[in-house]
Amino acid sequence: MNVAIFGGSFNPVHKEHINIAVSAINSLSLDKLIIMPSHSTPQKDGRLSASGNDRLEMCRKAFSGIACAEVSDYELKRGGISYSYLTCREFAKKYPDDKRYFIVGADMLANFDKWKYPEEVLKNVNLAACARENTESFDSARGKFNSHFSNPVAEVAYVGKKVSSTRIRALAALGEDVSSFTGEIIARYITDRGLYFMPEVAGVKKLLKPERWAHTVRVAVTAAEHCAEAGVSEKSAIIAAALHDCAKNLTADNELLKDFTPPDGVPESVMHQYSGAYVAEKHFGVSDKDILNAVRYHTSGRKNMFALEKLIYLSDMLEEGRTYDGVEYLREEFSRGLDYGMYAALDRQVKYLEATGRKIYPLTKEALNYYKEYKNDK
Ligand SMILES: [Fe+2]
Ligand SMILES: [Fe+2]
Repeated sequence: MNVAIFGGSFNPVHKEHINIAVSAINSLSLDKLIIMPSHSTPQKDGRLSASGNDRLEMCRKAFSGIACAEVSDYELKRGGISYSYLTCREFAKKYPDDKRYFIVGADMLANFDKWKYPEEVLKNVNLAACARENTESFDSARGKFNSHFSNPVAEVAYVGKKVSSTRIRALAALGEDVSSFTGEIIARYITDRGLYFMPEVAGVKKLLKPERWAHTVRVAVTAAEHCAEAGVSEKSAIIAAALHDCAKNLTADNELLKDFTPPDGVPESVMHQYSGAYVAEKHFGVSDKDILNAVRYHTSGRKNMFALEKLIYLSDMLEEGRTYDGVEYLREEFSRGLDYGMYAALDRQVKYLEATGRKIYPLTKEALNYYKEYKNDK
């Protein structure tokens, strides 16, 4: 019998997981596919997470239409960090005479030598890898793998659109519809159970015009998708993103701004960062200084910003709805690191302000000089 394990955090499970499962069944002529949600995955802490039971239940629902798929609670029951070498050891004991596969993404294959006890994994299973859109290609991943190991790797013939669980969590956090990524049943489960939802920012939507809210959602998705490399928690990134423009559509006489005193000499275009931080603190009850500062400096920037401030500044400027000239270059710089992104974004911002004859706010000028020196020092 051919049997494979398809592991992952499934936080949450989505359509791409189903596509990979179907493709693996066909490519590997599987008699059994074991879907195994992890208890906790190394390097994935700090993310919004559904409970193990909810992830398990969502997998059961999502894979219920695939006859040879079964969902296992083995790693969830074992607890602790879900190291694959332990799972594969048990897998070999349970299916000693069968052809055993372990399904990984191509990017996981490329970094397989960094796994804990990779030889032990390979002693017990054959790896089966699948490349997805915008990830490591199968051939390049196998090349990296082969520089360390000689075991054969099977290819799962699916190169599909990459769906990110992070995007789904960010959308669900803000109460947005995720059904196009998960299907109706899982989307309903997420909504009914309030999974990933952040009640602390639920009131932002009604303060904003629809297009401003749509932008806010895109900023939250961008921030969430970059928060791991920025070293900030997903929850802080989404809260700060949700709030960053919360005062953008408020007029000065709005009740929420009753006792707000603006700093001197702030241009109109910058004002909403200060009024936004005020509303975030007074109306939404945010006390986290990093989140408040991320809102407070998201338009001007400033020198020596904290990681969350830079993440929100850049996500605001580079969210996927932005199409201005040069945005792709800025995104590339952002992908090199926050400080490269900051310098490139501030440089563009100041040149744009100069070209349109607008005043450059002193904090922005200071920030540009700071990140220019920072870049030169590297
Ligand atoms: Fe803004
Ligand atoms: Fe914005």
